[in-house]
Amino acid sequence: VIDIRKLYAQTGAFTFDPGFTSTAACESAITYIDGDVGVLLYRGYPIDALAEHSSFMEVAYLLLNGELPTPKEDAQFTHLITRHTMIHEQLAQFYRGFRRDAHPMAIMCGIVGAMAAFYHDSTDIHDPQQRVIASHRLIAKMPTLAAMAYKYSIGQPFIYPDNSLSFSGNFLRMTFGVPAEPYVVDPVIENAMEKLLILQADHEQNASTSTVRLAGSSGANPFACISAGIACLWGPAHGGANEAALNMLRQIGTPDRIPEFIARAKNKDDPFRLMGFGHRVYKNYDPRAKVMQKVADEVLTSLGLTDPIFQVARELEQIALNDPYFIDKKLYPNVDFYSGVVMSAIGFPTSMFTVLFAIARTVGWISQWNEMIGDPEQKIGRPRQLYTGPAQRAFVPLAERV
Ligand code: ACO
Repeated sequence: VIDIRKLYAQTGAFTFDPGFTSTAACESAITYIDGDVGVLLYRGYPIDALAEHSSFMEVAYLLLNGELPTPKEDAQFTHLITRHTMIHEQLAQFYRGFRRDAHPMAIMCGIVGAMAAFYHDSTDIHDPQQRVIASHRLIAKMPTLAAMAYKYSIGQPFIYPDNSLSFSGNFLRMTFGVPAEPYVVDPVIENAMEKLLILQADHEQNASTSTVRLAGSSGANPFACISAGIACLWGPAHGGANEAALNMLRQIGTPDRIPEFIARAKNKDDPFRLMGFGHRVYKNYDPRAKVMQKVADEVLTSLGLTDPIFQVARELEQIALNDPYFIDKKLYPNVDFYSGVVMSAIGFPTSMFTVLFAIARTVGWISQWNEMIGDPEQKIGRPRQLYTGPAQRAFVPLAERV
């Protein structure tokens, strides 16, 4: 067996790999992707089986601990998470410092980072027990913080958590509930939320997860690291792609306009791309897109919505999958192709799409962070560079410069 680390140390090999397209930055036992076949496994379990048969709490337990919980462990874990959904009341005051029209992701970056100022008893990364408490706090409080960001942006009072509900049911009530009015969780919507969260919980070393690891490699506390991950996720090439896909479907509007947009996507002189199509790793159908397509169908049917964009999405997919351009380049729908349709049908404004993604991905981020901190060989992340600036030159005092 070749020890790559030793080999590199001996040969002094240096790689130039912008975008990290072929460089592994860590070892990980959490998530496996085979992009050529279209396989995604969490701790060895296929994503479609998890989405079909498990709850988000089971998946969170699995990603954190490596094994699916027994019924007793599941009950204990769910109880633990729901017991930590409340936030420090002083933290709730923070929202008032933001403008009403602040983007909820801007609020999330600030408020999650600020958690480090409130939960001092879980910021010592060298104490395994504190790491566990921080992980549970982050998973449990993200929905509360996200729902508050939404309520603040629309000028409604905050709704406090109801811990008798499921993780998803509680989040839906905090987001869409109104004080003094009973909120009944729709089981179809609750099920769709669970699937959205499961599908987006982890995706190995994507940009935001790598950001969390890089921030964590310096010993930064977990709240700061997750805040860094949220900042990275906010970018349109990462968490923002579902919003772009939904906007594109709305722009197309009706199935008869699809050929026009397909032609634009194939035209090298037009910067337009089919949003929700193609993936850096998947060169086959993204297994998450298949589940998401089914969820979209269920939600729209159950709500009695006849949104033409779903019809546009289905037909666009069929046309593209049979077009030699997309076949040759191995461009298939990714998870974002249908997730925007689902979130919009549930009632979320587009500004909340990436926030939902962040709630789900917090589980993956914190699992990866724990894996890294628990590794005795972990080093500070420090990429190298190829310097392209000027060679050394003599300094010229200001008065002598012309
Ligand atoms: N529509 C039309 N053509 C495309 C598309 C697309 N959606 N995606 C890639 N191509 C073409 C490119 O023009 C390029 O063609 P060329 O070889 O003739 O120059 C070829 O396919 C390869 O594309 P790259 O951008 O080099 O592939 P890369 O793996 O770097 O990019 C990416 C993947 C960024 C996702 C790309 O497919 C894309 O822009 N898709 C649309 C945006 C999107 O849906 N993003 C969500 C990703 S999933 C996520 O973040 C959860």
